[in-house]
Amino acid sequence: MNGNLIIKNASELVTCSGFAAKRGKEMGELHIISDGAVVIKEGIIDAAGTTKDIEAKLAKSGADLSGFDIIDAQNKAVLPGFVDSHTHFVFGGYRAEEFSWRLRGDSYMQIMERGGGIVNTVRATRKADANELLQAGIKRLDAMLSFGVTTVEGKSGYGLDKDTEIKQLEVINHLDGIHYIDIVPTFLGAHAVPDNFKDRQDEFIDFMIKEVMPLVVERKLAQYCDIFCEKNVFSVEQSRRYLSKAKEMGFKIKLHADEIVALGGAELAADLKATSADHLLQASDEGIRQMAKAGVVATLLPGTAFSLKEPYARGRFMIDSNCAVALATDFNPGSCFTESIPLIFALATLYMGITPEEAVSALTINAAAALDRADTIGSLDVGKNGDLVMLEYPSYKFIAYHIGVSTVEKVVKRGNLVFDKEKGGKIYC
Ligand code: NIG
Ligand code: FE
Repeated sequence: MNGNLIIKNASELVTCSGFAAKRGKEMGELHIISDGAVVIKEGIIDAAGTTKDIEAKLAKSGADLSGFDIIDAQNKAVLPGFVDSHTHFVFGGYRAEEFSWRLRGDSYMQIMERGGGIVNTVRATRKADANELLQAGIKRLDAMLSFGVTTVEGKSGYGLDKDTEIKQLEVINHLDGIHYIDIVPTFLGAHAVPDNFKDRQDEFIDFMIKEVMPLVVERKLAQYCDIFCEKNVFSVEQSRRYLSKAKEMGFKIKLHADEIVALGGAELAADLKATSADHLLQASDEGIRQMAKAGVVATLLPGTAFSLKEPYARGRFMIDSNCAVALATDFNPGSCFTESIPLIFALATLYMGITPEEAVSALTINAAAALDRADTIGSLDVGKNGDLVMLEYPSYKFIAYHIGVSTVEKVVKRGNLVFDKEKGGKIYC
């Protein structure tokens, strides 16, 4: 595991080249090198180009390649590792029963209003000890790795009290240290209103701001702060107060915005210059225009719309409005219980009017930008982390085309092969 690797003869080296979010038309430009090669040295991309050029350069430099692993990617496409920039993957218990109720016609919000939904998972997460959460987290991260995810964002929000929010964030940080996948932690203290604050949303926001946020900052447990801005959860004004305080305390901010009801979450995200606003199924034209102007990444979660049988966010309109669009799974036990990147590709391309090229940008460079990491991940540019996936097929076009099935053969993390379908999956070293 020395992070020295050369991949050559790739039918397509899909570089997604760039160091910032791509907007509008740029999202369709993948900067593909045919018969491509990439050199990763000590985990960092050292060179990328045609195999012919790279081989000539290496020969000329006389570099000692004995410490490099070599992968022949003939007839295979190579892309940056996928970035899943919105998930809730650390939680206790499951909500399979609620899923059956939804299939019989109950809505997500109806279940929430009668004491199920997020607070159901809160009860189970409070009960679970840190080791149970850790073990479940490893299993879920392994599934993500098999789909080609090399960086994931993970939120708290299933504690809604001081101890459990901290426990969840500690587990997320611990997992970052022990798993191949890099994890970006987000504090989502305002995810729902717990029973002991029923009808006292403002007091709950005060509690989070005064009692929990400072502790999260002091222990350096999260980089982002997020809130569920939604009718009957937290209003736009409550969200503004909570996120403004979070910004003052040094967090970058994100919002669950305009998911079920058009509340003005997109406008708020633009006004507060959030890094991203997520969901946006009901975002208004004006909100979208403002987000484009403010440079807020629109993170769309088609798996959630699919699972809730809600209309999809207007991805095509957002891209045409010059927004930077990212795609993510929203993996969570309630509204979208899937880690499946291929499903997200299928839904985005078949139902949201997003092209396969745009979907690739949305799950790589733009998702990296949704985590403020477009300078280090999300593309195959020199100087970035050597995180990439090699497909079983010759083109990125197969990701959407092979509906709902993973086309990922190998996953490389900082120059080390960490997953290989041909060798039975995750590689332990
Ligand atoms: O992004 N909408 C709010 N939060 C999550 C769902 C969490 C849950 O149901 O457990 C979401 O969809
Ligand atoms: Fe979410």
